[in-house]
Amino acid sequence: MKIAVIGTGYVGLVTGTCFAETGNRVTCVDIDERKIAKLKGGTVTIYEPGLEKLFERNVKEGRLLFTTQLEEGIADAEIIFLALPTPPGEDGSADLSYVLGVAHKLGTIMKKGDYKVIVDKSTVPVGTADKVIAGILKGSNNALVPGEDFDVVSNPEFLREGVAVEDFMKPDRVVIGTDSAKARSVMGELYAPFVRSGNPVIYMDEKSAELTKYAANAFLATKITFMNEIARMCELLGADVDMVRKGVGSDERIGKRFLFPGIGYGGSCFPKDVQALAKSAAEVNYDFRILKSVMEVNEAQKTYIIPKIKDYFNNDLTGKHFAIWGLAFKPNTDDIREAPALYIIKELLAAGATVTAFDPEAMPNVKALLGDSIKFAESQYETLADADALIIATEWNEFRTPDFTKISASLKRRTIFDGRNLFDTDLMNKLGYYYFSIGRKTVQPNN
Ligand code: UDX
Repeated sequence: MKIAVIGTGYVGLVTGTCFAETGNRVTCVDIDERKIAKLKGGTVTIYEPGLEKLFERNVKEGRLLFTTQLEEGIADAEIIFLALPTPPGEDGSADLSYVLGVAHKLGTIMKKGDYKVIVDKSTVPVGTADKVIAGILKGSNNALVPGEDFDVVSNPEFLREGVAVEDFMKPDRVVIGTDSAKARSVMGELYAPFVRSGNPVIYMDEKSAELTKYAANAFLATKITFMNEIARMCELLGADVDMVRKGVGSDERIGKRFLFPGIGYGGSCFPKDVQALAKSAAEVNYDFRILKSVMEVNEAQKTYIIPKIKDYFNNDLTGKHFAIWGLAFKPNTDDIREAPALYIIKELLAAGATVTAFDPEAMPNVKALLGDSIKFAESQYETLADADALIIATEWNEFRTPDFTKISASLKRRTIFDGRNLFDTDLMNKLGYYYFSIGRKTVQPNN
């Protein structure tokens, strides 16, 4: 099939590349000339495991093309994906100006009798499909007829950064929101190679599909937040959250995944989507109380370890030096959007401390944001020189079984604040550390 993907950000590039991989011809369109030049030159503009190989292969095969010209990009496309940014506006609602701007422009370009399926891939509030239809109609001066010349489909993505290619190629489910039988059949054919394993394609109306995406993300954010609160209870009551997690996660109705407490959820999706769903609720006069609590608890969770650190250093961090392992909002990505590490760094600096950080992928992004206000190290161990304590903010695999002899030799005192529960508390006890982690007993040296 011939496909256009408008917007070559994270979602657009993964979507375009993966559709090319199953034999479709995909043209990716973006207004950013530098980005398109890079992509044309063979450079993958985001870090995502497995993407580069697929990208190279499909570019070489001539199935993956790039352009800055919308008209050229969509010329013979049967399906047009909108993978455009929907950043939160000042009031938390999703800003639809990119999506609707492109919809209007499509209306000016698309021709009568040349049926195309327009697909919302971006995460957008319920009712956006109708707005996209209205935008296309306006652009065409009502010459185009929905259902005849085009259909608009909501097809949310459920990609996790770091495993996005795998998630795309083997989705748990594909949600296709449209009442049009013609559009359902086009979309069903497109996704057939991805659901050979038997995972479902779930057809529904546009609004239900739009809400499914928000509901999924908000539910997962709530699940994590619930465990973060259970972790606090564990600390207060002397229980161990690892045990509680295993105990409750074995119940299939609850499930083992997304029960890991930590220093809060971050990234480009959860914070934005929870906020947008709360805003949507407010707009229809529904008080979605649980979401408000989730946002409030998560906000506090991001800097939860700061008072613990301050307590440990008798409320004076002036001149104290901290090593930080991990900056990305989670492992296997260079994404630092809403990364808890940034909130922690801000608090440490404000309290007069200094920081040396290491992250396998995210350091260039943090450097661009924070400049010289912190130092960056070449390796995880290099951060430790003269540090009063080590803080762990992202659970990269390479941090999981470190050389504790090296750590002990470099740190001024054997002190670790672990926001990701990487180490065994018994081991830390044996090695003589002060070890604070989330929802577990704090290990005191020599006890
Ligand atoms: C998420 C959704 O998983 C994906 O379906 C959607 O399309 C986009 O948003 P992503 O933002 O890539 O994907 O990250 P994810 O792996 O879901 O993690 C989100 C946040 O939750 C991270 O900050 C992570 O550290 C945190 N998290 C996750 C926990 O704190 N505990 C857990 O048990 C799981």
